[in-house]
Amino acid sequence: MVASAEIVQQVSRLREQLQKASYAYYVLDHPIMEDSVYDRLYRQLQDLETQYPHLIVPESPTQRVGDQPAEQFNSVEHHVPLYSLENAFNLAELRQWQDRWMRHGGSIPAANAPEYICELKIDGSALALTYENGVLLRGATRGNGTMGEDITPNVKTIRSIPLRLTGEAIPERVEVRGEAFLGLEVFARLNQERTQGGEPPFANPRNAAAGTLRQLDPRMVSARRLDFFAYTLHLPETSNQPKTQWEALQWLTQSGFKVNPNRTCCPSLAEVEQYYTRWETERHQLPYLTDGVVVKLNDLMLQTQLGFTQKFPRWAIALKYPAEELPTVVKSVTVQVGRTGALTPVAELEPIQLAGTTVKRATLHNGDRIAQLDLCLGDTAIVRKAGEIIPEVVRVLPELRPPGSTRYKMPTTCPECNSPVVNLATEAVSRCINSACPGILRGALLHASGRDALDIDGLGEKLAAQMVEQQLVRSLSDLYELTIDDLMKLDRMGQKSAQKLVEAIAKSKTRPWHSILYAIGIRHVGAVNAKLLCEAFPSVEQLAQATESDLESVHGIGAEMSAAIVQWFQLPENQSLIQRLQALGLSLSALGEGKASSPTSLTGKTFVLTGTLPSLTRSQAQTRIENAGGKVTSSVSTKTDYVVVGDNPGSKLTKAQALNITQLTEAQLLDLLD
Ligand code: IVH
Repeated sequence: MVASAEIVQQVSRLREQLQKASYAYYVLDHPIMEDSVYDRLYRQLQDLETQYPHLIVPESPTQRVGDQPAEQFNSVEHHVPLYSLENAFNLAELRQWQDRWMRHGGSIPAANAPEYICELKIDGSALALTYENGVLLRGATRGNGTMGEDITPNVKTIRSIPLRLTGEAIPERVEVRGEAFLGLEVFARLNQERTQGGEPPFANPRNAAAGTLRQLDPRMVSARRLDFFAYTLHLPETSNQPKTQWEALQWLTQSGFKVNPNRTCCPSLAEVEQYYTRWETERHQLPYLTDGVVVKLNDLMLQTQLGFTQKFPRWAIALKYPAEELPTVVKSVTVQVGRTGALTPVAELEPIQLAGTTVKRATLHNGDRIAQLDLCLGDTAIVRKAGEIIPEVVRVLPELRPPGSTRYKMPTTCPECNSPVVNLATEAVSRCINSACPGILRGALLHASGRDALDIDGLGEKLAAQMVEQQLVRSLSDLYELTIDDLMKLDRMGQKSAQKLVEAIAKSKTRPWHSILYAIGIRHVGAVNAKLLCEAFPSVEQLAQATESDLESVHGIGAEMSAAIVQWFQLPENQSLIQRLQALGLSLSALGEGKASSPTSLTGKTFVLTGTLPSLTRSQAQTRIENAGGKVTSSVSTKTDYVVVGDNPGSKLTKAQALNITQLTEAQLLDLLD
């Protein structure tokens, strides 16, 4: 059917509206249209295109996801080869690079006052895009740099890649390079779906992105929600050329590409170094992975004059952050018993340097994970330590497996007390349920001595282990009956330290009810929940009598926790623990307790957050601090007033300790906010 001028106009208006909405959503991250409205306009366009198929053009928003899987990908030659980058692993190597290119370009006048552009190095997969007359003609992988694979149907599914360039005077042919990547949230969801569906998870977002781009079915690619940052522009010699990399990035932005906003222009290497140091910590807050900084000479003429070595451009370098993922040998597996009885297998490794620290052990999480990894003793495995995360084994390399090695099997009895291990169908962890198990007791003591609990200064891992081993302590209440003489029997314990410890234990009797409740270690009851519970049930008697539904009616207390509390109070040994603690003079009641703290204004106070907080997310903590007038910054300096420390804190904690800055737990932060 021939389309009237009106229909043609309507189709073009719909395309423009959809394109603008999609650009606002995917590139600017600033939606301008509700999903339902978008869907309605999209369907209108689809209907018109079905009615008038001759109006369909490849750059129509309806053409992003093709429905025909490819049989294979064709090889294509890159008009301009895709070079890789030389790596520098520290600032000294960066300076050597500057010396090198300056020597090479000695006679070039512009080389005297060079400007550098710093961009984040996105950890994804490079793409080469070709536009003809403003329309996306081809998308290809890097391949070997000269020949890549034509994956156009897949590239079209990436919503942040424009199908048609915007702006005026678009040259006839435009080549754009950039990085396709998977955001961390999308990656986590993808891996969760894969594990649930019995498929092996991707080792990292880079592999997931590369694997996705080579999927034959564009519908699958579309569902994976790849994203793209553009960073290189090639225009024909005859067209108006940008003079600097900065201008090129602006050109890309104006033409509809998503360009990483965290770029900067540096007048010298000193500023490059600052940028690198700043992003070493700040990158962990980004929703995608970056493994370094790409430093480029800003002047494109100078770039051309310096040219390339056999492999790399002379005018750019990748300044990498210390490796976060490396292979090493798993020498053995040990099993730790935690305070809840959970058995955690730990890989004992040939030590490696990862993210600036020596890593000798890495968690294997649980038996299911070991089976999934298919781990054999002696295997070479990839170990990851990203920022503040506990090192973990992410995958093994079966091709490097020594002959005759055996698969690791989780023990069926507890390595601490030999009692049979329980495997519930509802959880992946195996548990020891012997309440007298030394492993459980040790973990319970350590937990109870923590800052949000009884806050017993000096009672650390080694002491807790000895107290249990020498049977000085069989239950939490035994702590309060320890004498200086008892303690002096322990290794490296002199009279003075023993006396100090006895005093610290005695002092802990004055801890408030909610800290004691947290200390006794009922499953799922964290420091913050303990506070909520104690507000609702001001004495242990009231809490002990509460039913599951009484408990669940407290805002923030869920079914699992309520059940755990009721079960805990039913056990006779727990009831006698409560009686003993009360007899020893601990106050298991909030009655008569003063208000935790007087109202404090946080105006002018600067906070830094490190590690995972037990209940608040980072942004929740930040909002609450800011609402109280405080400020949250990303790095610790002498100007920092407080460092809020969660689980697995990173180098910020070390720095705070070095600068003697007050550290707070989440519960202490909440007190302050009260
Ligand atoms: S520039 C000749 N800029 O890192 C110029 N590359 O290890 C080469 N990459 O192959 C590329 N972010 O895939 C450049 N902002 C960025 C980048 C970047 C990530 C990738 C790219 C390159 C690899 C080199």
